[in-house]
Amino acid sequence: MRLTIEEQGMLAGDLGPGVQKAMEIITALGKIYGAEDLVPVASVQVAGVSYKNLGDAGLAFLDEWAAQGGKVRVPTTLNPAGVDLEQWQSLGFDAEFARKQNEVIAAFMRMGIAPTCTCTPYLVGTVPHFGEHIAWAESSAISFANSVLGARTNREGGPSALAAAIAGRTARYGLHLEKKRRAQLLVEVTCPVRSAADFGALGYLVGRVARNRIPFFRGLDLPPFDAQSLEADREGMVVDQARTLDSLKLLGAAMAASGAVALYHVEGVTPESHLPAIVMSGAENLTIDDLTPGYQSLTTDDADDRIDLVWIGCPHASLSELGRVIDLLRERRVQAALWVTISRVLRQEAVRRGLVAELEACGARVVADTCLVVAPVRELGFQRMATPSGKGAYYCPAHSGLQVKYGSLEACVEAAVSGCWLQQ
Ligand code: F3S
Repeated sequence: MRLTIEEQGMLAGDLGPGVQKAMEIITALGKIYGAEDLVPVASVQVAGVSYKNLGDAGLAFLDEWAAQGGKVRVPTTLNPAGVDLEQWQSLGFDAEFARKQNEVIAAFMRMGIAPTCTCTPYLVGTVPHFGEHIAWAESSAISFANSVLGARTNREGGPSALAAAIAGRTARYGLHLEKKRRAQLLVEVTCPVRSAADFGALGYLVGRVARNRIPFFRGLDLPPFDAQSLEADREGMVVDQARTLDSLKLLGAAMAASGAVALYHVEGVTPESHLPAIVMSGAENLTIDDLTPGYQSLTTDDADDRIDLVWIGCPHASLSELGRVIDLLRERRVQAALWVTISRVLRQEAVRRGLVAELEACGARVVADTCLVVAPVRELGFQRMATPSGKGAYYCPAHSGLQVKYGSLEACVEAAVSGCWLQQ
């Protein structure tokens, strides 16, 4: 692999052991994947933030790297943590866990990382440009950045993303190369796909077949997405744009969960879909004519229809999703816990607009910084959850020990109000 003089010095330890460690990780990956050189990155999203996943060993690893002078040199944001850093007590989280989680955040902050604690950095100001090289961890954010924004990132892991942030570059292989961004799976969708949950069910079904390949979708009825509207989200998007954003966010997240899809194209919607020969000759064909198997697979096999938790906001909610929950609640009080997880930045904006007060008057909670996959939910005593998120439904049984009902946002809000899942 070709390294510049500066990079050779960084690898030799000229800038200290923190940078040297980062370069060792990046060049090792580059060698494994056959990269010819490194490429500067414009932003990094770091995952592996929850103390639930890191434990004391992970915390010690981060502390040591920070002490070695590991400092990020490009804008770097953080994935969700294990608790809401401000409301943990009223949500029922353990004080010792919250203390450890704060130590993790402090270690990241010593490295110069913004404690954004969200899986939707693109909703809070980190919006990569088309063609820009980035190094993001968090499978749903990777999928969104690659597919909807046209940025270029591989599926980074926690340490490799952190290494890229400290080195300011990553190895140039895989999805950083134009020739590796062509679709190998042509998906014809012949059934209606309307609601957010429909997109999650579709993503689940396609991810299972695609695994780590790149799908190209035909037959999805969505307006093209204009990335500039992301800048406007805090001021409210036009309805069509919000629908495209929320639909693609849920589609990509589900595909990245049931498969390992890091990039997909949607004909006429995503920015690379019109490129010549974007579908490889010899691509496998897949037809999706019914979403029912997706809904069934994302629902656990549990005859009990009682619901004690409804989770909306996986990936973290946009303001338009929050607004829809308020509209659907129609000022009714919830019987089951209803958590909408969201970034802290958007929660603050929702407070300013009065949306949080409106939701919480119904007994719901607007929870920042965390989510129900990375939080220690088992300890909170919840057992049966409803969600309109394909990714959330996919992971929660194993990661959080919850029985899951998967359905539309409308069905989930009704389940929160009645405490019961009504058959679809
Ligand atoms: Fe985000 Fe957690 Fe879902 S990190 S994508 S809300 S599982």
